[in-house]
Amino acid sequence: MVKSVPEGGNWKDIPDTIPSKRLEQMRESFNRGEGSRSTYYGRLRRCDPAYTISTYFSRPGNGCHIHYEQDRVLSLREAARLQSFPDSFVFLGSQTAISTQIGNAVPPLLAYQIAESLGPAGVFVDLFSGAGGMGLGFKWAGWTPVIANDVHATYLSTYARNVHDNVLIGSIASAEVFEKLLNAAQCARSDGRPFWVLGGPPCQGFSTAGNQRSMEDPRNHLAWDYVRFLENARPDGFVFENVTGLLNMESGRVFAAIQKAFSSVMPSITSAILSAHQYAIPQRRKRVILVGARNRLDWRPPVPVTSLQPAPALFADLPRAVSVQDALDDLPRLSPGQDGCDLTYTSVPRTKYQAFMRGCLSAAEYLRSAGQQRLPSSG
Ligand SMILES: C[S@@+](CC[C@H](N)C(=O)[O-])C[C@H]1O[C@@H](n2cnc3c(N)ncnc32)[C@H](O)[C@@H]1O
Repeated sequence: MVKSVPEGGNWKDIPDTIPSKRLEQMRESFNRGEGSRSTYYGRLRRCDPAYTISTYFSRPGNGCHIHYEQDRVLSLREAARLQSFPDSFVFLGSQTAISTQIGNAVPPLLAYQIAESLGPAGVFVDLFSGAGGMGLGFKWAGWTPVIANDVHATYLSTYARNVHDNVLIGSIASAEVFEKLLNAAQCARSDGRPFWVLGGPPCQGFSTAGNQRSMEDPRNHLAWDYVRFLENARPDGFVFENVTGLLNMESGRVFAAIQKAFSSVMPSITSAILSAHQYAIPQRRKRVILVGARNRLDWRPPVPVTSLQPAPALFADLPRAVSVQDALDDLPRLSPGQDGCDLTYTSVPRTKYQAFMRGCLSAAEYLRSAGQQRLPSSG
């Protein structure tokens, strides 16, 4: 199946001589006019950013995850790069747990640009922290992590290994965990620097990709736990991150309810939809961000630094978005299922992005030169 899909192609390129119940069903539903599922069994285009790196990028049939020139899906390391996790970031756990940590994360480079947009660096409590995509980006921007909480011990071991070792395992819905987090918040408040809370509560219940987009989904209640935490911890500000499916859930009523709840604890809140490809990240990942601050009424989203080509007039002057090839073409050839983390690079960094991923450039240095993707010496 994978071999028959050309660069930029999808399930429609797979001949019906290859038996597959799933493809038969897809063809039938397509013929009934029920959507084209144009990314399914998709092969990436080398010159464009990737589609959203979801938690199931290791399966070809659920999105556009086939390597642009090798007959296999993305490796864990490649997917992590497309999410802007540097090569030195060590993910712990099973393959499935690692895919989930990668797919769930806020790209650290996006988090970095959000952190920079908030004003002076402060201290932060990282709720629903996962592996620490958001936390790492804030750390890059000079912020200090205080405590991270997640219900999954494995994700927190990744967090502790790469971001900060004060982690608390358990559900925020448990009174004991909630209390411990509040105690940590109290210390953070007395630090003197701005104190913020970060968190992207689980999104499956909100996602348009799932079919449980209901206010009754218990996972959605975690957003209210987040509000309750802000009420009690009284930080200077918060960042809430989620999938864009949240915006049209229950015809917009869920997002309206969330905005109302958050604004009841923070006088000024602003929402924005951020597209990762506009922030020098090789991926078209869109996320809703809600920022609230106690003393500032003027938060503006970070300014885009790259744009898809051809660019809309507003962004016509920006350098082109970082492509999949810009991100990956110094990595070794792999056979299907091989991760390749232990293999050496095939060349010196060919692009600024690769230099950033290898730790040769900081986030700030990389962003200063994000317009010049290919390096002259790369051949
Ligand atoms: C969208 S992910 C967050 C990703 C993270 N912000 C990052 O950038 O890497 C949501 C996280 O919430 C965690 N979670 C789910 N239920 C929870 C609960 N009841 N209490 C605390 N964390 C929970 C999940 O394990 C998952 O890691």
